[in-house]
Amino acid sequence: MWNYTEKVFEHFKNPRNVGEIENPDGVGEVGSIICGDALKLTIKVDRPTEKITDAKFKTFGCASAIASSSALTEMIKGLTLAEASKITNQQIADFLGGLPGEKMHCSVMGMEALEAAIKNYRGGKAEKVIMGVGERVVCKCFSVTEFVIRKAIKLNNLHTVEEVTNFTKAGGGCGQCKGEIEKIIKDYWAEAEHKTFAKMTVVEKIKMLEKVLSEEVNPKLKADGGWIELVDIEGSTVKLRFLGMCHGCPSSGATLKNVVEKELREKIDPTLVIEAE
Ligand code: FES
Repeated sequence: MWNYTEKVFEHFKNPRNVGEIENPDGVGEVGSIICGDALKLTIKVDRPTEKITDAKFKTFGCASAIASSSALTEMIKGLTLAEASKITNQQIADFLGGLPGEKMHCSVMGMEALEAAIKNYRGGKAEKVIMGVGERVVCKCFSVTEFVIRKAIKLNNLHTVEEVTNFTKAGGGCGQCKGEIEKIIKDYWAEAEHKTFAKMTVVEKIKMLEKVLSEEVNPKLKADGGWIELVDIEGSTVKLRFLGMCHGCPSSGATLKNVVEKELREKIDPTLVIEAE
C-alpha cells in the first residue's frame, strides 16, 4: 500500500475536471495504454489574453495518476499559457502534499501533457501531440525517450537509475535499458559539470582544482611519498608539478599523469588536459 497524503486520496476519490473538452484549443496526450499509464489533457484558451479558461483530463492510471491529473487541471485554470508553462512536476506533487518517490512519474506525466497541450495550441491545430515522438526511445517497455529521461534528470536532480525509474518508469520493466539509462545519467552530469566549470572564473577553477587535489588525489599519493601541486590553468589545460616520489620518476610519470588526468576529468570536467612539469 502506498503512503499517500490525504490530499492525494481526496483528489483520487473526488477527481476534478474529468472528461474531454469539446473543440479544445489544445490537446496533450502522453503515455501509452499498453504501459498502464496514459493521460489526455484538453484545454480551452481565451485567445486575446491567452488565459486557460477550462481544462479537463482523462487518464488510465493509478490513484496518483488520477490525483496528479486532477491537481494539474485545478492549478492551471485561470493561468496564462506563459504562467502555466512554468509548472513543474514537483509543483504538482507539492500541490498534493507530496507523492511517494515511486509514483513521481505520475506528476511528470501531468507536466508533459500540459507542455504538449500548450505546444499543440501554439501549433494552431487541436490534434493529438505526444511528447518526445521522433526522439530515440530508450526504454521499449514503457516507450520512454531520451528526451524525457534527460528532462527528468535535469528538473529533479536525479542521479541514480532507480530515481529515473521512479520519475519516468523507464527501467521498471524487463530492465534491459538500465545500462543505457545509467550512461545517460553519467553523460548528463558530465555535461552539466563541464558547463559549470567552463563558466567559472579562474579563481573559482583554481579553488575547485585545489580542493580535488587535496581531498581526493594527494591523500592517495602521500603514502608513497608523492605530492602534486597546481601550477597554472589556462582554459582546459591544467599544469601540475609532480613532487616527492613522483618527481624524478619519468618511467611512471606518464602513467601517473594519465591516472590524475582521469580522476580530474571524472571529478571536475571531462575536457581537462594535464600538463606535467
Ligand atoms: S526496455 Fe526498459 S524496462 Fe524493458
